[in-house]
Amino acid sequence: MSVEGRILVVDDHVDMGLMLREPLTDAGYAVDLATGGEEAIQMARARAYDAVLCDLRMEGVDGLDVLEAVRALDADIPVLMMTAFGGVESAVEAMKRGAYHYFTKPFRLDEVLLFLERALKERRLQVENRALRRAAAERSGLGALVGRSAAMRNLYALIDRVAYAQAAVLLRGPSGTGKELVARALHFQGPRASGPFVAVNCTALPHDLLESELFGHLKGAFTGATHARRGLFVEADGGTLFLDEIGDMPLELQARLLRVLEDGEVRAVGADGSRTVDVRIIAATHQDLDARVREGRFRADLFYRLNVVSLLLPPLSERREDIPLLVEHFTARARARNPRSRMQSLSPEAVAALATLPWPGNVRELENLIERLAVMVASEVVSLEDLRPHLPPEAPEVQPLVMAQHALWPLRRLEAEYIAWMVTRCGGNKTRAAEVLGIDVSTIHRRERERG
Ligand SMILES: Nc1ncnc2c1ncn2[C@@H]1O[C@H](COP(=O)(O)OP(=O)(O)OP(=O)(O)O)[C@@H](O)[C@H]1O
Ligand SMILES: [Mg+2]
Repeated sequence: MSVEGRILVVDDHVDMGLMLREPLTDAGYAVDLATGGEEAIQMARARAYDAVLCDLRMEGVDGLDVLEAVRALDADIPVLMMTAFGGVESAVEAMKRGAYHYFTKPFRLDEVLLFLERALKERRLQVENRALRRAAAERSGLGALVGRSAAMRNLYALIDRVAYAQAAVLLRGPSGTGKELVARALHFQGPRASGPFVAVNCTALPHDLLESELFGHLKGAFTGATHARRGLFVEADGGTLFLDEIGDMPLELQARLLRVLEDGEVRAVGADGSRTVDVRIIAATHQDLDARVREGRFRADLFYRLNVVSLLLPPLSERREDIPLLVEHFTARARARNPRSRMQSLSPEAVAALATLPWPGNVRELENLIERLAVMVASEVVSLEDLRPHLPPEAPEVQPLVMAQHALWPLRRLEAEYIAWMVTRCGGNKTRAAEVLGIDVSTIHRRERERG
């Protein structure tokens, strides 16, 4: 029988403990007996119990003392008290101090079993919920953002300050720089953290759909509207609505959005009245919104409204010092996602090489590369050689020289790497490479033997 939980039974009358042990064991619990308060406290210190069933009145260290000691060890452990007839007052006291329940002797066994089961179930849920909440907060708050560069530290300080404001926020920055991650951090770091975070991509949906998605619609508002929809503004009530790629929002919808921002009221498609919502808007774009305003494709008034607070995310190439940390972070993630991957880490040279690349796709591109390595590379430590075939096509242009500077290669190594690079560039044609390098093909062969 699987163990449902480990229970500590405390009673200074040995018979009582023995009487309880059998049915509890039959119900699937592992049961330990203590015959006094002091012994119980020692046992609770020595091993983790899922619940404690404790007599209230005992000589010396009594039930209230045990309750206190157990709760000091772990406030989540349910403690159920047993009290003789007439001990109700101290039982009430025990409840005040956090006991889960009390039974008056003589009690019915099935009652004890019922309450134990319930207490353990609640405890399990509590522990689970807490772990989930902690994980979610870590995943989504500032904790999810990696980087110690000046640019990132500056960003953290801004997020901290802005998270508590009400005003709309505009996140700008090239693709893959972490705009969505920052939007989540703003939500989970601020006072709306327990409210909903709703994200919508304005590019992904055609105009009509986006409109009813955002504002909701009544049943029968248009052909195909067989059910009413609340809309994302209403869904995000009390929380945050993240409008990704706001630059692509059609002009008509921009006007409607502006109205919501101004008076906090949404009107569903086909509805007469509107309803008030309390939603914080975070918008993001990789486009140059000023330019879109000038072109007449983005409303100036909406732009000013959104731009009250604006955070600019730096491209990865402007914070290269974060690359080693990001590599470590994504390596751990990729390992967790690919349990069969052998990859443990990247060699310092491989990391240095990554730190020299241009990264037009920013953090997302780096993340994808590491994921690819986890799947494709068979070594535990990814070397520069392992890495090379996975580098983006523009990589060889910067590699040997910049690498030499980063990794402080001796001249001899630079020469060998430069030759290897040139051969690759010439499509493996060594004669051609030798021509370009102004050396003899035999030199190339010799260097290759030296490199192994
Ligand atoms: N500072 C960071 N620390 C850790 N991970 C990051 C960081 N910045 C970005 N990422 C990761 O990089 C990926 C891209 O980030 P995100 O989706 O937030 O970018 P984006 O700016 O919204 O890009 P796009 O404009 O293309 O939508 C995500 O997987 C995200 O987790
Ligand atoms: Mg995004």
